Amino acid sequence: MLTTLLSYQRYAVFATVGLMTLASLVGAIVYSQWLFIVVGFSAGLFFLGVHDLRQRCHSILRNYPIIGHLRFLLESFRPEIRQYIIESDHDEVPFSRQDRGLVYQRAKGVEDKRPFGTIENVYSSGYAWLTHSATPLTITDTDFRVRIGGSACKQPYSASLYNISAMSFGSLSANAILALNSGARKGDFAHDTGEGGISRYHRQGGGDLIYQVASGYFGCRNDDGSFSPKKFASLAADPQIKMIELKLSQGAKPGHGGMLPASKITREIAEARGIPIGVDCVSPAGHGTFSSPLGLMEFIGELRQLSGGKPVGFKLCIGHRREFMSMVKAMLRTGIIPDFIVVDGAEGGTGAAPVEFANRVGMPMLEALTFVHNTLRGAGIRHEVKIGAAGKIVSAFDIARALALGADWCNAARGFMFAIGCIQAQSCHTNKCPVGIATQDPIRQRAIDVGDKSDRVARFHRNTMRALGDIAGAAGLSNPSDFMPYHFMFRQKDNEFLDGNEAYPYLPEGFLISGEEILELIDWHARWDRAKAESFAPPEIPHGPFQWRKAA
Ligand SMILES: Cc1cc2nc3c(=O)[nH]c(=O)nc-3n(C[C@H](O)[C@H](O)[C@H](O)COP(=O)(O)O)c2cc1C
Ligand code: SF4
Repeated sequence: MLTTLLSYQRYAVFATVGLMTLASLVGAIVYSQWLFIVVGFSAGLFFLGVHDLRQRCHSILRNYPIIGHLRFLLESFRPEIRQYIIESDHDEVPFSRQDRGLVYQRAKGVEDKRPFGTIENVYSSGYAWLTHSATPLTITDTDFRVRIGGSACKQPYSASLYNISAMSFGSLSANAILALNSGARKGDFAHDTGEGGISRYHRQGGGDLIYQVASGYFGCRNDDGSFSPKKFASLAADPQIKMIELKLSQGAKPGHGGMLPASKITREIAEARGIPIGVDCVSPAGHGTFSSPLGLMEFIGELRQLSGGKPVGFKLCIGHRREFMSMVKAMLRTGIIPDFIVVDGAEGGTGAAPVEFANRVGMPMLEALTFVHNTLRGAGIRHEVKIGAAGKIVSAFDIARALALGADWCNAARGFMFAIGCIQAQSCHTNKCPVGIATQDPIRQRAIDVGDKSDRVARFHRNTMRALGDIAGAAGLSNPSDFMPYHFMFRQKDNEFLDGNEAYPYLPEGFLISGEEILELIDWHARWDRAKAESFAPPEIPHGPFQWRKAA
């Protein structure tokens, strides 16, 4: 009996509200009409409780009428509570307070120095450090650049070592795109359009553009969604477009397509993408223009020719390593070598992705970068192809490490979002971004002052390049492009660390095509054997892993 009574405790708030409604009603009739205010309030709560008991969606509300709403309220504030009260400087959710703070300081141009010493645990596994020189240099010109464009390219581009990674108009607001692009113009670096085509806000900013062509062919598609060479050629002729990037995949959701529902397609989004209003817009998971490595290279050749010889490359997150090797074999077979490859790590960001994809699909950036770098070295074409890297690169140290491990330049998406005020609220997919960046709501995006935020973008870039110059100088280098793996140490576990040459070695030039097998690199040779320029499909594996080489 007692247990049954106790189990009804959960209705206590509901019952109290009911009694309060009755009591205040009596009081209002007998004593004072002012009590009708209390009646209105408590009756409202009481009817909410009745609704909670009758609805079927939320079990918690059926069991805890009225009071159960507190849970939903607290849940909705959870990211903010965590960020403002609980989060430590190191918690990566996904960027640590320390990283975000660094971007904010550099973007605002305020003091970015740290007092008292490091807060890193320098003895924990995963800690990496740069080895400095006894003869440091002072670098005054920190406008570091790399020339992108191989021997077949007619209009090479001199890119900054740090650029804005792909983020579409549609996933970002008009003001965010305008602020990013204007910042890129002020700082003389490049802004990747993302797969959503080129909007009027990309053009208005006047900054250098990398036009991204993805499986939806936005901006260069026929009505049926297929690639239109004619539309592509007329877009690519625009002098603001400096390079063409074919997107195969991105780190946060490799192998996953997307769908922009009709309700979110505004007139301006439709204009940028070349799609009709009122119809769901599908981005297929894969491309319709090619289905084999050879086909991919032929398409790259076509884009190069249609763009008048601008640098053409592709972006991918590494999945099956054999497939990337197949692409490299196709490069060798066709002689069509992309001008650049952008390697996006699994740690990369997105507007929205299924959790399994965001957390568990694709290779992280450091491993992917060294794999791509070494495969190109092994195939003897590394000098023809420049490599860009993306994946949580926000500090000069992050850039230096990527350059050392094989990148020629770096891109950042979320770093530049922080520069224009992103507070990492992680509601990008809800259209309710609190700072007006990831939303199409015209009122919310008014929060972005384009003039001020574009200055911040340029300042963040400039200050990061200065910091890069500082650490390159400390290592005794006159240019950060000279960083090599041995300039870095990587702690594996307590009391053990590896030199960068051991952890991420540069493999011998041409080792995959020389015909000689290096015993320590037997896995590389085996995978290379299994890769085919004609097809992405795996060779048959009849009896398990030890038969692989035989099967191929
Ligand atoms: C809001 C948002 C939208 C993105 N849209 C695209 C896109 O259209 N195409 C693409 O290739 N990558 C896209 N990305 C991935 C980024 O370009 C980048 O590769 C990835 O986030 C890693 O960089 P980061 O760690 O500096 O953010 C997007 C990322 C974000 C955060
Ligand atoms: S503030 Fe939040 S919702 Fe807006 S862009 Fe940043 S993470 Fe996305």
